[in-house]
Amino acid sequence: MGVQEVPTQAFDDQKPGTSGLRKKVTVFQQPNYTNNFIQATIDAVTELEGSLAGATLAVGGDGRFYLPEAIQIIIKMAAANKIGRLVIGQNGLFSTPAVSALIRQRQLRGGIILTASHNPGGPTEDFGIKYNIANGGPAPGSVTDTIFKKSQALTKYQISDAADVDLSVLGEVRVEDMIVEIVDPVDNYATLMQELFDFDALKAYVSSGIKLHIDCLSGIAGPYAKRIYVDLLGAPEDAVVNASPKPDFGGGHPDPNLVYAHDLVAAMQTGAYDFGAAFDGDADRNMILGKNGFFVTPSDSVAVLAAQYEHIPYLKKNGLQGVSRSMPTGAALDLVAKKLDIEFFEVPTGWKFFGNLMDAGRLSLCGEESFGTGSNHIREKDGVWASLCWLSVMAGTGQSIEQILLKHWQDFGRNFFTRYDYENVSSEAGDAVMTKVRSLIGNQASWPTDAPSGHKIASVDDFEYTDPTNGEVTSKQGLRIIFTDGSRIIFRLSGTGSSGATIRMYIDSYIKDDAAYTQDAAVALKPLVELALQLSNLADLTGRTEPSVIT
Ligand code: G6P
Ligand code: ZN
Repeated sequence: MGVQEVPTQAFDDQKPGTSGLRKKVTVFQQPNYTNNFIQATIDAVTELEGSLAGATLAVGGDGRFYLPEAIQIIIKMAAANKIGRLVIGQNGLFSTPAVSALIRQRQLRGGIILTASHNPGGPTEDFGIKYNIANGGPAPGSVTDTIFKKSQALTKYQISDAADVDLSVLGEVRVEDMIVEIVDPVDNYATLMQELFDFDALKAYVSSGIKLHIDCLSGIAGPYAKRIYVDLLGAPEDAVVNASPKPDFGGGHPDPNLVYAHDLVAAMQTGAYDFGAAFDGDADRNMILGKNGFFVTPSDSVAVLAAQYEHIPYLKKNGLQGVSRSMPTGAALDLVAKKLDIEFFEVPTGWKFFGNLMDAGRLSLCGEESFGTGSNHIREKDGVWASLCWLSVMAGTGQSIEQILLKHWQDFGRNFFTRYDYENVSSEAGDAVMTKVRSLIGNQASWPTDAPSGHKIASVDDFEYTDPTNGEVTSKQGLRIIFTDGSRIIFRLSGTGSSGATIRMYIDSYIKDDAAYTQDAAVALKPLVELALQLSNLADLTGRTEPSVIT
């Protein structure tokens, strides 16, 4: 064994996005590409937080193609850079929430998560590398900016010429002076869930005959869902499907929504199951369905969990310090916060804003329309945890998911919600739509007064957020058209698209009328959808008459 210093050429495209560096596998496979990014990450963390010599990091990912190769590179480079210990999930596997939980529980310096979340995997699909900091959350902009800066100036990296480590064998091995500790990827997370929830009550509920159908979409949620639902809660083996992580997710798109989790939707529509859930590739997103395919929008999901928090043992014990949603998320949560008289925060899209509020002790529960729900038990969103929250509310109330939602709407009114995605439009067309909507700001004379639905605009703005924990201002986070009845139309350009621009149009239509809650969401939302298309002139400016995806 020995450490080598290898000369390298900098790459100019290693700028991490909000969720790390995501590129095609073939990009990561270029000679030195992965090595450079790992060295830039180690150098950046060293510069900002002090030496990593002797430190412990967690490493693991969602099982996608190129994971084993990336982990061997990380082991050899970590050893050469004098890191003290790596805690790696067996076979390189860890869900994103499990890494966050492990960092917090063992007070590690940080972790490296290998995933491209809900993007497809395979030799021609996506891979990703993301650094999480000591609070268990994604690295903030200051860290990712420094990684990018380091990557642009990199001339060499350090690597050990040690042999590959067998990732399948639990226990400790030494690489140079570093210990590699291979652990069961589920143990620590399952223990945490047992601390948060009442597993005896859940087990009794499951054995009372409630039928579960949990689809892991061949992502990393499988081993976690099997352990929790089958081994610990006694559900039948076949209650959890697609539970073996596959490098290509079985050729599917591991994203839990009505389009990509169609098998789950179809299974639920047969009426054979009471509770359905799906998770994305790295198990941080979730979708919840009730009997006959009854769909819980992510915006409603976080609002219901907040309203019913007393059925979730650790939230009941600790109380809700505050709740939060991202700006485009339907505003159902706002009404619950008002009723509970607790702090409420509307933050920009992206999980990092929640983490700051949690660290400050001001946020217990949060969610995003993009199928993310989470709490201060970790600093990432958490799919399997969200499903346990829902099961707890069902067990506690004795009601079906549909009954829980109906009651919620009767109490608070219903925020009908939909998102239209126009993918792969040109950047120019995307900008033109935003410019057109932006022209409504401060120009009251241009606001329509004769909308057939009676909707009247109360305000238009470009969302700006001041983080109450550190005063940092984040501006231009999406255009909001707010109506006098609280309904909203939002336009935003996606921050995660890979080519051209993706326009997201979000419609949040508030209705308080007991007779209206069971109507088809598409029908209820039609007037505002039409108004949004008219106000943005979207069809003319983009040439698109239909969105690519409706969720
Ligand atoms: C990632 C983040 C989420 C965020 C989403 C937004 O998944 O983890 O927190 O909601 O991106 O994506 P968009 O494409 O709308 O910018
Ligand atoms: Zn994810």
